[in-house]
Order: sequence, then C-alpha cells, then structure tokens
Amino acid sequence: MPRSILFVAGEGLPFIKTGGLADVIGSLPKALAKRGHDVRVVLPLYKKIIQKYYGKLERLGTVQIHSGWINQPATYYTCKVGDVTYYFIEHQAYFERDGLYGYEDDGERFAFFQRAVLDMIYFIDWWPNVIHSNDWQTGMIPLMCHACYADDYRYQNIKHVYTIHNMAFQGNFGVDMLPSCLGLDYSYFDNGSIKFDTGISFMKAGIVYADKVTTVSPTYANEILTESYGERMDAVLRYRRGDLWGIVNGIDTTEWNPKTDARLAKNFDGRSWVSGKKANKTALQKELGLEERDDVCMLGIVSRLTNQKGIYMITDKLREIMGMDVQFVVLGTGEKDAEESFKWMEEAYKGKGVYYCGYNEDLAHKVYAGCDLFLMPSLYEPCGIGQLIAMHYGTLPLVRETGGLKDTVQPYNQYTGEGNGFSFWAANADDMLYTIRWAVEQYYENRPGWKGLVKSAMSTDVSWENSAETYEKLYYTVCNWGDK
Ligand code: ADP
Ligand code: GLC
Repeated sequence: MPRSILFVAGEGLPFIKTGGLADVIGSLPKALAKRGHDVRVVLPLYKKIIQKYYGKLERLGTVQIHSGWINQPATYYTCKVGDVTYYFIEHQAYFERDGLYGYEDDGERFAFFQRAVLDMIYFIDWWPNVIHSNDWQTGMIPLMCHACYADDYRYQNIKHVYTIHNMAFQGNFGVDMLPSCLGLDYSYFDNGSIKFDTGISFMKAGIVYADKVTTVSPTYANEILTESYGERMDAVLRYRRGDLWGIVNGIDTTEWNPKTDARLAKNFDGRSWVSGKKANKTALQKELGLEERDDVCMLGIVSRLTNQKGIYMITDKLREIMGMDVQFVVLGTGEKDAEESFKWMEEAYKGKGVYYCGYNEDLAHKVYAGCDLFLMPSLYEPCGIGQLIAMHYGTLPLVRETGGLKDTVQPYNQYTGEGNGFSFWAANADDMLYTIRWAVEQYYENRPGWKGLVKSAMSTDVSWENSAETYEKLYYTVCNWGDK
C-alpha cells in the first residue's frame, strides 16, 4: 500500500551536492516514488540553490520558528521534480552562505532547520507516516518530534528512520545547545541519552531516538559496532543493534548511463565499450593535455582527498604508480598535503599524470567513462558511490575490502574468471601497490580476463531497485504494517 515518507537531509541532488549523501537523496526518493509512495524531500535553501533555481520555486509562506531562544522566521518554498516533491527552508542569515557546513554556528543553524522542518508539517498539513532523517544535520528530529510536540497525536504517530552515511561527522555541540537552540531541558544530558563527552551529539540522538537506524551497507553496519570503526559511538550502536539495518546504496541510472550520457565523447554499452572507451579516453587526453594513446591503461580518481579515502596510501606510492605504463587522472579537492602531492605528480610526470583541483561534475562523467581502473582504497567506506558509477561505465574499481566497497566489488578470480573489480584487504600501501600492479598486468597481458571483468562490472546491478524494496520493507516494519 502506498505510504508517505518525508526525507530530511542537509543536501540532495539535483539541487546541491558535496558528496554521496546528495546522490542518495537525489535518487532513493525517486525510486520509492516509482514504487507508488508519496515521497517528499526537505532541504535548507542554500545560496547556490537560490542562484540556480529561485525562479522555479513556489513560495508557500512564512512561519515564526521558536526553538529554545531562537525566534526566527522560516519561509517555505516548494517545487516538484518528477514524482518527488521538494521543500526548501529559507533563512537568509543561516543558509545563504558560500558553503553548506563547517561553520561555528552549525549547531544553531541545524537546530533551526530541524525545528522548521517539523513546523512545516503542520503548516502544509501533510502528515507523513515516516520521517527519514539523514546524518548529523537531522539527527535531532526523532527526539524533537516526540519532545516538542508531545500533545499533538499527529506528530506522535510519525515513525522515524535515521540513516548514518558517515560515522565520522557527528554534530557534537556544547550542552547549552539544549535550552538555547533546541528548546529541551538538561534531562537529556543528565540521563546520558544524547550526552557525548561533556556536550551533546545530534548523531547520537538519532541513533537513540529513531525507531530504526540504518547505514548504507551491511558490512559497514557490522563494522561500526566495533571500536575501530564506531568513532566512539560503537557502544550506543551495539545497544541499538537489533534495530540497525545495513542497506547498500544504488545510483541514479538515468543520470549515470554511458548509453545516453550527453557529456561523453561517445556513448557506449556492454557491447560497444571497447571502442567507446577508446574514444572517451582520447577525448579526455586531449582535454587534459595528456599524451594521446588509446591503448594506455588509464587510472582515475574522483573523490574528496581525505584520509578516509586512503589517499595517503596513493600519495606514498606515486613514484611507483607513475613508473608503470599508465596514465593517471585525479579529480578532487581536500586536505592540503594530498593536493600538494598530486600537484607535484602533475609537474613531475607531464603528459602522463593530471590533477584537476576542484569540483567538476562534467569532468567527473568523462573520467568515469575514459578510465580503465578506478582507485578507491578507502580506510573506511560506509557505501561509496564512486565505485558503483565506475562499474556502470566499464571502469574496474580497485578498492580496499571495507564497508560498502566490500559489499559491491567482487575481486577478480583469475581461475574462475569471476569478479567485477580488484580488491585488497590490509590498509597497507604495499598491498595496494601490489594489487594495482597486478591489475595493470591483467589489462595488458590478459585481455580475455579483462573483457570478462568489464562485462560483469557493466552488468552489475547498481540501480536502486533492490535497495528501494528493502527500504520499503523497513518502512512497513517500522509502522507495524506487516509485509504490505
Ligand atoms: P563521499 O560521499 O564519502 O564523498 P561517495 O563515493 O559516496 O563518497 O560519493 C562521492 C560522490 O561525489 C560521487 O558521486 C563522486 O563522483 C562525487 N565527487 C567527489 N569529488 C568530486 C569532484 N571533485 N568533482 C565531481 N564530483 C565529485
Ligand atoms: C557518505 C559516505 C559514503 C556514502 C555516502 C552516501 O558520504 O562516506 O561512503 O556512499 O555517504 O551514503
């Protein structure tokens, strides 16, 4: 039976993106709507959204939001994209900034956002069966919904799903946030439920108060129960382990489709990928000033350049990697040290290595299409979107066996021919280098094996079909609806 679900997040495509969360918010609601549900999404109205979409938004009205000492107006906007309705919360001082997060007043900004989301439900008089919150920016929603609207049964009837996309970003703030911005008393700190060190944690609140907690792959769901991956929340996660689901992400296969992708030099599919890749590789070489060779093994990275992504294993081995008969394209921004190393690579290996320091959607499509190997040796990876896109574009992922990478990439078995990529286990640069060498060798010396791998990578199901069905089951479970 169709149900109503409100997604709440700090970012989401097609409007605004800094990472994989935006990919998920841009595609999972769509997949659920396709299954017949009434799915809506609410986001802050950031400056970048205003610049691009303001003319397309319909203004719904303004409500004065009271949350602790906050007494500020929120203006609601809406628009529809396909079958999904989007809402935006406007507050000039809080959201019309160059970036999305990382400001000193993030706690106040997102306390306001979450309260404005809950007030919006009353304002538009649409009462979802489930609110599906995502990451720290929305972790307080289940608790606020219970505590701040205790005498309204319509709020109390709403069930809550909370999805963790990355344990490392927790939204930890001072305890004074409780009265000042959240309108809650100190009991939530005193009883330990949202206490974290000497302050409070939005993420912990989501974990404790949601009806079900999910994360974005089964392996990561297990990993975060351990001290090594739990980012000091493993104990509280173990306490909720019975309600913790791991559901792997998909990608939007209409946006990411090598057969129709207008950004590519040549479109291709599972049958025409050999010539398709050659054309895209040479176009990329031309665009980036690399030596034009359609036979070379091209390695690629499209990523935030941070420790999480195992980037320093790569920078440690840059000389060895560039010593092979390969070209290397790196697209991304992040930590200074990593950026510096890739700038050095570009200087030292002119025509062979290129570093594009920036965020560039257009180039990302071309890199996924033109490369042969996609490097993603993450130290931890809740799910990962990059390796899914790469596979769909016939670019074999080379990953560390962790989190969603382990769940989505099957390593090549040279005896059976099985697999859709390459992987290694230990977080060790030598193991990674060994695997890269081996993969490059397969590219040059074992063409039948390589072709089989690309074929199976391209036919791997990276769509939302299966996972959307699992989320649907989760919503039914949380609402005690039985199977349907
Ligand atoms: P995370 O969310 O941890 O950064 P994911 O692999 O889940 O990692 O998602 C990253 C997403 O952001 C992918 O869609 C990837 O293509 C995209 N991306 C990362 N860096 C860039 C960049 N510099 N330019 C364009 N797209 C990027
Ligand atoms: C986070 C994770 C990434 C995941 C994405 C979407 O950014 O780092 O692994 O794919 O969220 O769930």
